[in-house]
Amino acid sequence: ALKSSYVTKAQKESQRSYTSVQPQASYKVAILGASGGIGQPLALLVKMSPLVSALNLYDIANVNGVAADLSHCNTPSQVTAFTGASELANCLKDVNVVVIPAGVPRKPGMTRDDLFNINANIVKTLVEAVADNCPDAFIHIISNPVNSTVPIAAEVLKKKGVYDPKKLFGVTTLDVVRANTFVAQKKNLKLIDVDVPVIGGHAGITILPLLSKTKPSVSFTDEEVEKLTVRIQNAGTEVVEAKAGAGSATLSMAYAAARFVESSLRALDGDSDVYECSYIQSDVTELPFFASRIKLGKKGVEAVISSELEGLTEYEQKGLEALKPELKASIEKGVAFVQKES
Ligand code: NAI
Repeated sequence: ALKSSYVTKAQKESQRSYTSVQPQASYKVAILGASGGIGQPLALLVKMSPLVSALNLYDIANVNGVAADLSHCNTPSQVTAFTGASELANCLKDVNVVVIPAGVPRKPGMTRDDLFNINANIVKTLVEAVADNCPDAFIHIISNPVNSTVPIAAEVLKKKGVYDPKKLFGVTTLDVVRANTFVAQKKNLKLIDVDVPVIGGHAGITILPLLSKTKPSVSFTDEEVEKLTVRIQNAGTEVVEAKAGAGSATLSMAYAAARFVESSLRALDGDSDVYECSYIQSDVTELPFFASRIKLGKKGVEAVISSELEGLTEYEQKGLEALKPELKASIEKGVAFVQKES
C-alpha cells in the first residue's frame, strides 16, 4: 500500500480542489475544431466545468489523442472523440451548446477578412450539420472573420428552416476580456471588478470599447481613451506578431470562449443574472448584426441592453458611425457567400 507520506500536503490539497468538481448539471457541449490551438485549451477548460456531463470533440485531424488525454482528468464529464465528416452527425446529437473554433488562424500581415474563403466554407458545412442534428442548441461562432461568419451561419440556418436568432452568437468575449485587462492595468484597478462593454463587431475599428461605461466608474483623459481604444482594437495583431507566423490568440481566446460557454450553461440552468457582450442579430442599430451587451436566458438572448448605447461620448459616437460601413460590408459579404451558392 502507498504510504500516505508519499503524498504531500500540497498534493492532497490540490487533489481535493480538483476532485471537488462535483456534477451540478448535465449539459452536453460539442467543440468543432477541437484539436486546434483554441480547441485544445478550450476543451480542457470546459472539461473542468461542473455543469457539463458530456464533452464531444470533433476535428478533421488528431482529435483521438486530445480526447484520450482529457478523458483521464477526474472531472464529471465524459469525453468522446469524433473524427471526420462521417462522425459529425453523432457528435452533435442532443448537444446543448456547440462551439465552433474550426478554421485557419491569421498569420502576420493578414487581416481577419483574408481568412474569408477558407473559413466561410468550413463554417457553412459545420452549421449545416448543426441544423440537421441539434437545431435547438446555442451556437457559438469563433472562426474568423466573425463579422461575416455569423451572418453565414444565419443564412445556412434560415435555408434549413431552423434559424433562431436568439441562439446564434458571435464570440466577442475576448474583446471584453482584453478591455478589462488593459483598463485595470492602466488605472490600477482590481481586475475582478472591471467591466468594459465592447460593441460593434470583431475586427479592427469595428471593435468599439465603451470606455465611458466602464464599471466601476473611472475617468480617462482623451489621450488615454484613444490609446486604450486602439490597443483593444489591435490586441489580436499584438499576439499574431509576437507569435511570428505560429498563429493568433489561442490561450486567451480559449479562456474567453470558456467564459462564454459557462455563461450559456448557467443561463440554460436557470440562472437569472447572466450578461455577456456578443455579436448577434440585432436591431439596436440599422445594421442586421451588432455586438452589444445581452442578457442570456434559457432560450438564448433574453434581452439586448440597448440603453448602453445611449449617452455615448463624442469619441464613441464617432467610432460608432465610422465602424458601420465596414461592418455592413462584412455582413453583406457573408450573406452573399451563402446566397450565391444556391
Ligand atoms: P488552428 O489552426 O490551430 O486550429 C483550427 C482547427 O480546426 C484545426 O485543428 C483543424 O484541423 C480544424 N479544422 C479545419 N477544418 C475543419 C473542418 N472542416 N471541420 C472541423 N475542424 C476543422 O487555429 P486556431 O488558432 O485554433 O484558430 C481557429 C479560428 O479561431 C481561426 O479562424 C481564428 O481566426 C479564430 N479566432 C477567433 C477569435 C475570436 O475572438 N473570435 C480569436 C482568435 C482566433
